[in-house]
Amino acid sequence: MHALPRKKTKVAIIGAGIAGLYTALQTSEYADVVLISKKGLDDSNTRWAQGGIAAVTAKSDSPALHRQDTLIAGAGLCSYDAVEVLVHEGPDRLKELIAYGTEFDRDDQGQYELTQEGAHSKRRILHANGDATGAEIVRALSARVMEQPNITVLEHHFAIDVITQEDECVGVIVRQPDGEIFFLEAEATVLATGGAGQLYRYTTNPEIATADGIGIAYRAGAVIRDVEFIQFHPTALYYPGAPRFLISEAVRGEGAILRNSNGERFMDKYHPQKELAPRDVVARAIVSEMEKAKTTNVFLDITHEPADLIKRRFPTIYQFCLQYGLDMVTDWIPVAPACHYMMGGVQTDLHGETSIKRLFACGEASSTGVHGANRLASNSLSEAVVFGHRISERIKHYAELPDIQPLTVVSEYRGQRTESSREQRVKLQKLMLRYVSVKRDEKGLRKALEELERMEQDYQYIPVEQEDFEYLNLLNAAVLTTRAALMREESRGGHYRNDFPDKDDLIWRKHLVQSIRAGVL
Ligand code: SIN
Repeated sequence: MHALPRKKTKVAIIGAGIAGLYTALQTSEYADVVLISKKGLDDSNTRWAQGGIAAVTAKSDSPALHRQDTLIAGAGLCSYDAVEVLVHEGPDRLKELIAYGTEFDRDDQGQYELTQEGAHSKRRILHANGDATGAEIVRALSARVMEQPNITVLEHHFAIDVITQEDECVGVIVRQPDGEIFFLEAEATVLATGGAGQLYRYTTNPEIATADGIGIAYRAGAVIRDVEFIQFHPTALYYPGAPRFLISEAVRGEGAILRNSNGERFMDKYHPQKELAPRDVVARAIVSEMEKAKTTNVFLDITHEPADLIKRRFPTIYQFCLQYGLDMVTDWIPVAPACHYMMGGVQTDLHGETSIKRLFACGEASSTGVHGANRLASNSLSEAVVFGHRISERIKHYAELPDIQPLTVVSEYRGQRTESSREQRVKLQKLMLRYVSVKRDEKGLRKALEELERMEQDYQYIPVEQEDFEYLNLLNAAVLTTRAALMREESRGGHYRNDFPDKDDLIWRKHLVQSIRAGVL
């Protein structure tokens, strides 16, 4: 036990995807910012976003239509006010992204090219370099961040826990690349830590998506909401030796159809919008077809579209598949659902503030209420910038407050490792895949929860390496997700129960919120 070295900043932002980079840029207009990234600036979940960013730009579209599509996809659990904020403020934030240097694709007339994805009634999704939208946004924003003298970027630094004092967040404990730990005192702290895809063995998310924001906020006593709603992307590549690479929904938006192992198109049996039905519907339909035929995958077929359209619109996906001998122009692509996005997260108000004062959450780590039980495709990048802007507006107020009380933080993060977090992580991922996946039931959820709770109790070794802390975050999030999934005895959006297959608005049109202080409410 020893007192930690201390550093100080006005604003600490944890995470360097679109939410962290954008919030840092906006906040740096009036305050010093420390941006903490557990990898390099070029390595975030955003970097892999393909489809695009949804915002109203076309004359034939309107915020009311965008709101309606978002609410329908959200299956009765969106916050109307949060959706209003998203659809009305999205277009202005998009202009700022462009002003920061993001180059979205344009057509021959110089107009922004708009694509379509599942459950959108209009073409309203902007994209960049065909199917590499996230990489272009990260390129533009990180270049701007590096130019700002009042943003200090700490790459390869890991945020372990936030510290609270009288129910206010006063900073964050940070692990340096050499393993040393310090306390970063901050007048406001933003969790922009991204998603939780690593909860599952099969995910479109990179290795870094380890539910860090949920773990940190939960241990600090913040309210966690809606974490039973997990979005499984219907079409991740399923090919021996290949990672579960995302095959964007925009491929279906441009005309691709789904075929089962007999080569039959099947989505018309499941939903009038067929391949462009909401994601949860398409993912379940695929699983049903796989179960019926006892196969591991279905196929995505875009071979009927012109070769030049396929190669121009989807250069990244095209090249990736080609590495495995799959030519989208002539071959059906084997696909299966994989974990893609967590709808819930750390509960916030309309300014991104959590239930703990001075602690904010933004992007996938947050639960602003925009996504309800099922996120509308491409709303996540818009949500990150809309609420990132609002957070920076709110923090302005805190930046004017007097200094916080001096605080001594004592290190508890030293000791010997006794177990492999890597092995434990794989065990957790297998449990989640088997029992807390696209289709769930009471027996499986109980089994998973018992095992996960046992793993939580067994977590007594003192974490030393970054992967130990990541495993703890995943474990906290896995328990929260499984517990909520067991409690919610109905099916809605990204939560489907074989034993309760219907939506039950009478009892369950409500949120499950959890807190370390109060349990499940
Ligand atoms: C995709 O391109 O299909 C993913 C877009 C999203 O998750 O919003």
